[in-house]
Amino acid sequence: MLTRQVPLAEDVRLDEVAGRTPGFVAADLAALVREAGVHAALRQKSAETPTVAMADFDAALEVVRPTTMAASTLELASVTLEDVGDLVEIKETLTESVLWPLTYPDTFARLGVRPPRGVLLYGPPGCGKTYLVTALAGTGRANVLSVKGAELLSKWVGESERAVRELFRRAREAAPTLIFLDEVDALAPVRGQATDGGTTDRVVAALLTELDGVEALRNVVVVGATNRPDLVDPALLRPGRLERLVYVPPPDAPARVEILRASARNVPLAADVDLAGLAAELDGFSAADCAALVREAALAAMRESLTASTVTAAHVATARRRVRPSLDPAQVAWLAAYAESRRG
Ligand SMILES: Nc1ncnc2c1ncn2[C@@H]1O[C@H](COP(=O)(O)OP(=O)(O)O)[C@@H](O)[C@H]1O
Ligand SMILES: [Mg+2]
Repeated sequence: MLTRQVPLAEDVRLDEVAGRTPGFVAADLAALVREAGVHAALRQKSAETPTVAMADFDAALEVVRPTTMAASTLELASVTLEDVGDLVEIKETLTESVLWPLTYPDTFARLGVRPPRGVLLYGPPGCGKTYLVTALAGTGRANVLSVKGAELLSKWVGESERAVRELFRRAREAAPTLIFLDEVDALAPVRGQATDGGTTDRVVAALLTELDGVEALRNVVVVGATNRPDLVDPALLRPGRLERLVYVPPPDAPARVEILRASARNVPLAADVDLAGLAAELDGFSAADCAALVREAALAAMRESLTASTVTAAHVATARRRVRPSLDPAQVAWLAAYAESRRG
């Protein structure tokens, strides 16, 4: 598509170029074609009809990198919503308020529904916030640009705001795009309290400008995630910004069964493994702890025999002694109360 207007030499193999550009979003590919064109033009200054050869693409591939801010982990991970145990309602909410607006903007317009511009996922650590968004990215229905709050805070004056603008520019170019601001509390401590010479203040201001952008953010949805909603600048949570707050709670026993099941989807469990019984004993275990338990059980089986073909209750018991719960009861109680107060 991008090369429709470009005079390609016969040796250009676009499928090979495609194979060498993992993690490139549409805007990166456009930059690549532009760069190859420039290279070709320079190479054949005197030619009447310069053509773009494979060598020009090779040269362009040396200099054009995929959007650095797009976490390649998100692009490469092939996590799907199937891998996410439990959290059924949250998956539905995200599908309706994030994927639908990106996929069917015309339907929203026709029915007069204004989708939320942004969503903030909050909840205790290790309970699936990042994992959920990775799974949404895995549906392949939107480009995902992911950036951690701390990554946007560059020490050089002005760089951070530029990074924010660049992030949104790329998102618009590659639309439909989901912008994922993970660990957004790092980025947006309440204004006026920062001790970093105002960088975070300016980054938040830049974010607000982009979110309110005069250029309508059509086809761009922003999802934030945090363990500390109290640290997020309230201005970011106003209508038209990260207006929809979604609590991702720690798993209860039935949820832990689902998480164990999802984590063990590709693990051959022996008949004597009772996931429901196990889940009932795992108070204080986050989703990540449950996943770690399954991994540890499989490792126990491997340690016993490299030709092991099933993971037994004995392996699970061994793992159970190694993996400790990581949820902090005080933090969980605070977050539950916060969620309750938002509901009111
Ligand atoms: N609902 C879930 N089902 C299965 N595994 C999960 C689930 N939630 C989290 N995990 C596991 O826990 C790990 C950490 O979760 P993550 O989403 O990074 O937590 P956080 O809420 O802190 O962002 C994931 O990489 C995944 O292996
Ligand atoms: Mg996370």
